[in-house]
Amino acid sequence: METKAGDPGAFAHFDLGRVDSPAFVVDAAKLRANLVVLADVRDRAGIKVLAAMKAFSMWRVAPIIAEYLDGVCTSGLWEARLAGEHYVSVGKGLAGKRGEIATYCAGYKAEDLPEICAISDHVIFNSPMQINRFRHILDKAREDGAAFDVGLRLNPLHREGEVEKYDPCAVGSRLGFPVDQLRPEHLEGVSGLHMHTLCEQDFVPLARTYEALKPHIAPYLAANGGPIRWLNFGGGHHITRADYQRDELVAFLQAVKAETGCELYLEPGEAVALDAGILVGTILDAHENGMPLAIVDISATCHMPDVIEAPYRPAMLGERADGVAVRLGGPSCLAGDVIGDYRLPVAIEPGQRFAFLDQAHYSMVKTTTFNGVPLPSIWLWDSADDSLECVRRFGWEAFRDRLS
Ligand SMILES: Cc1ncc(COP(=O)(O)O)c(C=O)c1O
Repeated sequence: METKAGDPGAFAHFDLGRVDSPAFVVDAAKLRANLVVLADVRDRAGIKVLAAMKAFSMWRVAPIIAEYLDGVCTSGLWEARLAGEHYVSVGKGLAGKRGEIATYCAGYKAEDLPEICAISDHVIFNSPMQINRFRHILDKAREDGAAFDVGLRLNPLHREGEVEKYDPCAVGSRLGFPVDQLRPEHLEGVSGLHMHTLCEQDFVPLARTYEALKPHIAPYLAANGGPIRWLNFGGGHHITRADYQRDELVAFLQAVKAETGCELYLEPGEAVALDAGILVGTILDAHENGMPLAIVDISATCHMPDVIEAPYRPAMLGERADGVAVRLGGPSCLAGDVIGDYRLPVAIEPGQRFAFLDQAHYSMVKTTTFNGVPLPSIWLWDSADDSLECVRRFGWEAFRDRLS
């Protein structure tokens, strides 16, 4: 996969020696700039935008996100708890309102649901069967004072994904109830429909997906006297990328809102933190085996697993266009712990610093301590005033306490 981001922005002038290594550094000013774009789409379209915590859960910046967006979407009990503790109760929130929490999980556990219902405004299920099986828990949660809507995730059966493993509409996908199986009885007690089908995509795939979905859901929409009052179009919208078609998106959302009579939600993750963070590393050793090699303190498998999973090649800050490429690999024992071949802007010598771009989303949330590889510390920089703060450093206890 080619990364579509990788604009260094203000990081082009950041002195990598100011932080320890390895370290994630997030630029609050770039985060704000992304949030301004998302809030502008929200305001012009008259919709709600939730930040997807699965992509970026650096809760130290929750008050910044709460200033601009309507809340967050979560993937189950633990993210919902984090949202309840840090995202909706802090900051002034949009127009002073409490932020919303939408929780979707492909499979809930009965014991988690009461707390999820108490925390969430929308509890979104993957199948009508699970809604039915847990209806008594939902009723009891309401009796106990929880106020939430039930939603159903649909699989529109319309493929737009460029990479099969990131395509929830791929053949045999478990994600979402296939829309061609939808019957009126499946929507008993359901007031919203959810779909999430895109990954780093432009506006047009969203429009095509909605066109595919529309005939199946039309009879159930509020505008046609049905029970469905909100539609959530998930994430995967690369709205903050410079060339995203934001005017077309706004016009589309306005039209859908008018024709369906529904409140509309988008829940971008990557777009919130796009190009807002780097991962700083250090060269530990160098030798040759048919090509120049360097062992670094960043591990693909522990710190940026999407490099191997996707796979993709992260952009490097200041990478040179010419010169000899060196293969960078992590300190772990995994032969495949290779980040890629790079023309470094520094000499291939132990102690030299370098950084990968666009690492705020889907890296920080996915780190592991496999092989006892230390976790990167987390820093918050603000390129607007050059303030820099170490938000969190992880000691070896972080490794020990995950084992027993
Ligand atoms: C249900 C759901 N909503 C939102 C998102 C956020 O997507 P992205 O970070 O690509 O915008 C995801 C990502 O997997 C998702 O599964």
